[in-house]
Amino acid sequence: MDQSGALDTLLQEDRVFRPLPGLVMEANVNPQELAAAYRQAAQDPLGFWESAALELEWFRRWDKVLDESAPPHFSWFPGARCNIAHNALDRHTKTGNKHRLALIWEGEPGDIRKFTYFELYRAVNKLAGALRSLGVAKGDRVVVYMPPLPETVISMLACAKIGAVHCVVFPGFTGKALKERLRDARAKCLITADGFYRNGRVVPLKASLDEVLAGDDLDAVDICVVVRRANLDVEMHAARDVWYDDIVRHEKPEAPTEVMSANDPLFLLYTSGAAGKPKGVVHSHGGYMVGVHHTLNWVFDIKPTDIFWCTADPGWITGHSYAVYAPLLAGTTTLLYEGHPLYPQADRMWHITAKHGVSALYTTPTTIRMLMRYGNQFPRQHDLTSLRMLGSVGEPINPEAWVWFYQTIGRGECPVMDTWWQTETGQIMIAPMPVSLIKPGSVNKPLPGIEADIVDRSGAPVPPGKGGLLVIRRPWPGMMHSVWNDEEAYLACWNRIPGCYLAGDVARRDEDGYFWMQGRADEVINIAGHRLGTAELESALVSHRAVAEAAVIGVPDKIKGELAKAFVILREGFEESDELARELREHMRRELGPVAELKGVKFRADLPKTKSGKIMRRLLKAEELGTEPGDVSMLDDE
Ligand code: WTA
Repeated sequence: MDQSGALDTLLQEDRVFRPLPGLVMEANVNPQELAAAYRQAAQDPLGFWESAALELEWFRRWDKVLDESAPPHFSWFPGARCNIAHNALDRHTKTGNKHRLALIWEGEPGDIRKFTYFELYRAVNKLAGALRSLGVAKGDRVVVYMPPLPETVISMLACAKIGAVHCVVFPGFTGKALKERLRDARAKCLITADGFYRNGRVVPLKASLDEVLAGDDLDAVDICVVVRRANLDVEMHAARDVWYDDIVRHEKPEAPTEVMSANDPLFLLYTSGAAGKPKGVVHSHGGYMVGVHHTLNWVFDIKPTDIFWCTADPGWITGHSYAVYAPLLAGTTTLLYEGHPLYPQADRMWHITAKHGVSALYTTPTTIRMLMRYGNQFPRQHDLTSLRMLGSVGEPINPEAWVWFYQTIGRGECPVMDTWWQTETGQIMIAPMPVSLIKPGSVNKPLPGIEADIVDRSGAPVPPGKGGLLVIRRPWPGMMHSVWNDEEAYLACWNRIPGCYLAGDVARRDEDGYFWMQGRADEVINIAGHRLGTAELESALVSHRAVAEAAVIGVPDKIKGELAKAFVILREGFEESDELARELREHMRRELGPVAELKGVKFRADLPKTKSGKIMRRLLKAEELGTEPGDVSMLDDE
């Protein structure tokens, strides 16, 4: 039978996939244990998470597991002392993990660098010492503006080690978007690279940072550390800029690890929410490490021999949690790739998988759909038998893409774990386990210890089959600690539905209790799994001299899930034209970076608004898609 015929049969005959017996027999958590975990976690959720915490090392144990005395602020493991870098690195150098590979990195041109735990530990210690010598101290913010390089991982861990708070900014952000994040974080130190390789080109990075720093209002930045990656000629400002190689050269390979409180901040990471400006989601050392460590081990069934490849850029939460922290906490090997999945041709991911023997591959539906378009000839050229587990995250996966991934890449043997979670949740929340029955397109059920529900606007649970708002009813260890400098944004997640964390997603549950995600309920657009706020896009558009008003909506796209489409009212004296539309798209790239790509620009004489003057994007979307306005989104703010 040809492949498309096989796909059709799979999709029609049986929408439930059973794990193969071998996988069940070898699973870290077998079906009986999973059932027991669900029971235990329901009866005693704190006891459940306490057991997970006991799998890691603490300098001092907690006074209690969870302090719930000041909701919606929750404090996990209060009184405990720890450091995530101790658990991700230091402790492995005292076990059999010492000389195991911690990191395999492949550059786009094909260069490879490998680090054992011991080597990574030494590299991190050197940078930690260097940062300390430069005056970076506990609590200082360090912005890491880098492509996926070993130094990105080293920088994150070195910050953690000395108690500095890292803030990784995705290199796809430039201009205003970068500036806004730098200003809000008030970083003392920046770590960047001269440039990097992407899709066969060299992308300058230090230069786009210089442009932003040239402004008058970012005087907080004292130090800029530059990694030499692409041998670009960069301008070094004598009082501020230092080469990475120069500062680590004479540092000792040992540096003390700062003893942190469990609730001291580890990082802030900007993401888009309902509010206008991006919010700096804060995660702390203790709860976060418990959450990501536990979920990686459970959902991806991590074994000592695994090579785990999470394709997310470290600039997003997926990269933080499952490309950097969780695999290192677990003592496994993480793989990082610098470049584009289609470079030099559409088999790069299969080439990397085969070459390094990747056993678990965690990627996005957009990547899967993109590669699927090239058919099966590319995967067929490579030996993908090292793969054991597959995963998907960031956006809803359509069953066709799920089945293709499962069949063509996973040989019909590797389950695809569709995992739902967010920057705010820090850790995977709703996902199958290796022993689960899987329905392609569904994110399965909340993991043990996670109490998720689907409710209406008043907070009442909705019956199976009906769409509603996804909420989490109980705190979980990986949850965000706060929002940087923005208490209101933090409270906004908790106060709409009393007592619950409101995720901002629409979902429904079927008769079997499986969750089906249906997209965002708020003004967030998810382009290829990259989360962008309409407000940030609109304000960049309005900064163009021709634009009086603008509204941006997400419209469906076959590959990227969603794309941003702009509706623009021009200022007096400007004429609509294809030329101007092109200029606006170019303007967006300059203002926010390549991540802010517009699918199209439509000129209009007016925009639909509420009485209070808010743009009704819901109506624009309905118009655009030719649907009933009521059907489009049940939650857009009236
Ligand atoms: C969406 C990424 C459907 C969702 C980890 C969420 C998903 C937002 C899934 C968070 C999934 C994430 N199925 N939708 N498996 N995973 N999403 O903060 O809308 O970048 O709210 O975190 O991505 O995006 P974020």
